[in-house]
Amino acid sequence: MSRLSIYFRRKPVDIILQEAQSETAKEQGHLKRELNVGDLTAMGIAAVIGAGIFSTIGEAAYHGGPGIALLFVITAITCGFSAMCYAEFAARIPVSGSAYTYAYASFGELIAWIIGWDLLMEYAIGNIAVSISWSGYFTNLLAGFHIQLPDYFTMDFLSAYRGYHEALHQLSAGASLQNLPAQLQQAYHAWIDAPAIGPLKLIADIPALAIVVFITYLVYIGIKETKQATNLMVALKLAVIIGVIVLGFFYVQPANWSPFLPNGLGGVMKGVSAVFFAYIGFDAISTTAEECRNPQRDLPRGMILALLICTVLYILVALVLTGMVPFQELNVNDPLAFVFQRIGLNHISYIISISAVIATASVLLVFQMGQPRIWMSMSRDGLLPPAFARIHPRFGTPSFSTIVTGIVVAVPALFMNLQEVTDLTSIGTLFAFVLVCGGILLLPEPSMQENNSSAASAKRFKVPYINGKYIVPVLFLTGVVIFRNALLGLCKFDDLHPMSIGERLPYMLFVLAACVIAVFTYLKNWSLIPVLGFSSCLYLMTELGYTNWLRFLIWLVIGLIVYFTYSHKHSKLHRDNPAVVHHPASSD
Ligand code: ALA
Repeated sequence: MSRLSIYFRRKPVDIILQEAQSETAKEQGHLKRELNVGDLTAMGIAAVIGAGIFSTIGEAAYHGGPGIALLFVITAITCGFSAMCYAEFAARIPVSGSAYTYAYASFGELIAWIIGWDLLMEYAIGNIAVSISWSGYFTNLLAGFHIQLPDYFTMDFLSAYRGYHEALHQLSAGASLQNLPAQLQQAYHAWIDAPAIGPLKLIADIPALAIVVFITYLVYIGIKETKQATNLMVALKLAVIIGVIVLGFFYVQPANWSPFLPNGLGGVMKGVSAVFFAYIGFDAISTTAEECRNPQRDLPRGMILALLICTVLYILVALVLTGMVPFQELNVNDPLAFVFQRIGLNHISYIISISAVIATASVLLVFQMGQPRIWMSMSRDGLLPPAFARIHPRFGTPSFSTIVTGIVVAVPALFMNLQEVTDLTSIGTLFAFVLVCGGILLLPEPSMQENNSSAASAKRFKVPYINGKYIVPVLFLTGVVIFRNALLGLCKFDDLHPMSIGERLPYMLFVLAACVIAVFTYLKNWSLIPVLGFSSCLYLMTELGYTNWLRFLIWLVIGLIVYFTYSHKHSKLHRDNPAVVHHPASSD
């Protein structure tokens, strides 16, 4: 029994399931079982289609050209592997903690904590990004009604600061203010006009704050209300996205698709963060497991259906967008509205702006609902204070956690910058996917008790097993041969190398991990799909760049400090069974 093994002690699935229904949970109040497969699919779509497709992919298309459609395919395949692993976990462990609980069952407490902490990046930080994007569209919409909010109350401090200095730079080079891009003009005015307290300029994104407060209220008052609002918003945004595809198709000029990869694959890969961000969310519905009528059957279906529908729509949107206008013009924050404005269909552009406001609000709704449920699960396990598991006696929602989520999202949304939070969300979510795919490989087989206790066990979703024994090592070796020059380049330590050592580290880590995975797959006959999911998500993480890795690691270190100072000491698993310590590899 080593000291270290305490941290990797797994929580048996039987116990997780029992606890979710235990007296403790009952004392604290019940969540309401309201959701069916249709609601779950709608919630998945609600969480996926939002700021990504309506905002952030503009810049990705600008860098990647029409080939960005390829990135939508690659990312969908990667997400598809992860979705299957999520679906198996959700069918087997239908409780609200999502990837956090899955990691508790497969990797033990420390990794579970890390993933719970990391999921804050997907949900809370993701929502900061979405609320900022919402604010952008909303402000434009108000401007259409001739309601002009002051610039300094519609943007964040950093964007105003950077934009102002960039504008100054361009003005000193002879440009005139009227000819600067709209965003720079806005930043310039925000900085000049902002009220100040001493040297501090009061610049904050007030609409972003307001929408988070409103959505938090909706999530607080009940899952039924959340569901109804979600279904309505999804119907509307699907109608608009399909409308964009069908109408846009008539304005496509195939010449715009050539060259397909104007900046090569490198240009396409610059869009990884934005495109991946657009797919994030199908996993969020797993946090509603305790509010589903039949979670073991419906959650896997809901997740996979939502992902499939969004994938088809996204690939078509990417093709239509890059077919309608030359990709060089797409570096805008509202690409869907922009392309219609560009071809003179201003009223369509206006409808798209309205629906973007609704679409992004629905993402907020689902993420704002997911975060408190993860905290609730962590609190039940003792890793967070008991208040986080408190359920509102009337509304049946995790009340305290919901309010804390509101504060955690609303306050930074006033000040943070879209690009930074999007990148953090993407890297955090990819990490969660890596661990979920890895977790499936390590999850112990169901015990007799678990099988007997679940009527649905016979039909429970499982990732189809394809033995990776030979396929994975062959894929690894093929990759090494094809990319041998790049791999050799990673190991050259001369001053002329275009990448610093820090920038190369994530790639080195990936190669090492891929090698280890190939060996283990050969030795242990690991299942192909989770292995591909693990490797492809890890690869996409490497593409997100050194600065994001650094920020991400700092975030994880803060999480570890919280774990060792509070959570581990209060862990119920250790408190209830102090003497029993399992080896990480021991079975349940
Ligand atoms: N996929 C979600 C969005 O694009 C996070 O807004």
